[in-house]
Amino acid sequence: MFHLQASAPDTIGQVLSLPQPDLVLVAVAWPYASGPRHIGHVAGFGVPSDVFARYHRLRGSRVLMVSGTDEHGTPILVAADREGVGPREIADRYSRVIAEDLQRLGLSYDLFTRTTTKNHEQVVQDLFRTLYEKGYLIRRTQMGAFSKSTGRTLPDRYIEGTCPHCGYPSARGDQCDNCGRMLDPQDLIDPLSRIDSTTPVFRESEHLFLDLPAFADQLSQWLSSKDDWRSNVRAFSANLLAELRPRAVTRDIDWGIRVPVEGFDERSDKRIYVWFDAVIGYLSASIEWALLRGEPEAWRTWWQDPRASHFYFMGKDNIVFHSVIWPSILMGYGSGGAFGGGPGHPPLVLPENVVSSEFLTQEGQKFSSSRGVAIEVRDFLERYDPDPLRYHLTAAGPETQDTDFTWAEFIRRNNDELVATWGNLVQRTLTLCARHFAGVPEPDHLQPLDQQLLETVDGGFQKVGELIGSCHFKAALGETMALAARVNQYLGETEPWRLIKSDRTRAATVLFTAVQCVANLKVLLAPFLPFTSQRLHEMLGEQGVLTPMPELVESQGDGQDPHLVLTTGAVSAVSGWQPQRLPVGRPLAQPEALFRKLDPALAEQELARMAGSPTSPGVA
Ligand code: MF3
Ligand code: ZN
Repeated sequence: MFHLQASAPDTIGQVLSLPQPDLVLVAVAWPYASGPRHIGHVAGFGVPSDVFARYHRLRGSRVLMVSGTDEHGTPILVAADREGVGPREIADRYSRVIAEDLQRLGLSYDLFTRTTTKNHEQVVQDLFRTLYEKGYLIRRTQMGAFSKSTGRTLPDRYIEGTCPHCGYPSARGDQCDNCGRMLDPQDLIDPLSRIDSTTPVFRESEHLFLDLPAFADQLSQWLSSKDDWRSNVRAFSANLLAELRPRAVTRDIDWGIRVPVEGFDERSDKRIYVWFDAVIGYLSASIEWALLRGEPEAWRTWWQDPRASHFYFMGKDNIVFHSVIWPSILMGYGSGGAFGGGPGHPPLVLPENVVSSEFLTQEGQKFSSSRGVAIEVRDFLERYDPDPLRYHLTAAGPETQDTDFTWAEFIRRNNDELVATWGNLVQRTLTLCARHFAGVPEPDHLQPLDQQLLETVDGGFQKVGELIGSCHFKAALGETMALAARVNQYLGETEPWRLIKSDRTRAATVLFTAVQCVANLKVLLAPFLPFTSQRLHEMLGEQGVLTPMPELVESQGDGQDPHLVLTTGAVSAVSGWQPQRLPVGRPLAQPEALFRKLDPALAEQELARMAGSPTSPGVA
């Protein structure tokens, strides 16, 4: 059974009273379309952002949740070389795979699109051109890396070496995955090409640099107001501000968005840096969403109304791009060029929070396809249901520290918490109601014990809501499961299955109380467990959609190239994030189990499978 958790740590107490926003942009990191994604990826950006978005929709906020596949840059080229096909084919293939996987996991994007759309190119070029015209992009030459063996330019991610800051031996030419710092390839100690292990040669090459120091004051003022950020994200970002220097935002590469600046535009070997292009996706996807809805200006509600709050979700290796680079681009653009509307229009909204998670390891090892350490989302969902995975990644995920995934723990939590606590509560309550009363029983006088339980569970909406709103997802789920355990305990004490024989009236009151608690918990758990909460919603005889599901559709969007997108159209039929009451007499049938008990022996089988099969390429 689930054990009551110690109360949430005290840091949470300080943020509980935050006012909650009504206009929310949920901006989710864009996965590279370079291979299938593994559960570490969705633990970082996927599940937390979806819990947050679903909660805000239930409480009545206007939510826009956007993302897509990140399809430019060297990660795609590396995958293309490896698989012996062109980058376009790789992007098409994995964009579809990823969108399907995210859909199966129930991630409720209003729009999940791609960075290879015409719309995205137009928006990126408008921002780029505007920053150039405002003087924030400066021309400079820098040493570029070239392959000694082929003479071709060697993009950043192809280069590996020792990080000059922390000494990590496999830092990449653009970033160190250990300390998270931005790098340039020539910063690396002992750089080597990842393709053929030769030492790259460095030659002069002209590029455009984003003048980050020009934003230093504005950035630090903005950052200093963010005292509700996770402390590691805040401290890390503050450190970055101390060492700002201009950052090249063009690359010697032939796969990416063309540079709309004289002297660069006709050159097919110069493109916009993939990170510059990807972060702009949050804006371009909002614009595309508005176009697809047939309300082309609707995106401005989220981007030019100063009341809008933008929450960004990602793994920790993405922090710098969201807490320094993207805010600088937004500050530089202001009310900007073609899309901003120009002077007199409000500037684009800056991030409210950069919500970063830590890394997930697997059975003690870092996820890595080359070493066969990666559980792909697809593979997982072929054998297990999405809600137990979402549950596990929230309850035991890397929210604020690196965390290890083990099959044994996944199975244990499924059995002890989902099946034995929540599933069992639903099962017992609905079975007794159906069998003895054919529905929601009519209560007699509610005793203090019953009243108190109802009040405690009703109080969950305030408490759990504040925890989710302040991005304490693990604590929020713990709190909710503690309420479920509390209701189980009540059933254990009142024993309605015995009362049925001795005191039917009292049994009715107890079961009335319990079934109202189940109806409340269904809503409290909906952000975490949307599939089973919807099933329970229907089992309780309720109408419509509790919490909507994404669909994959071919978008024809106004003269754009058709492409596959995920959207979430349906709206919740539930009257909100508040105490629920089922009417007396509502018919109830025998329930079906919400969760499957898993044989602990499966852990061994999964380990053997992992050891035996090399995972598909390109997951790292
Ligand atoms: N593609 C990057 C990754 O997988 C994330 C891009 S997030 C965005 O690490 F902000 F740039 F969109
Ligand atoms: Zn480092």
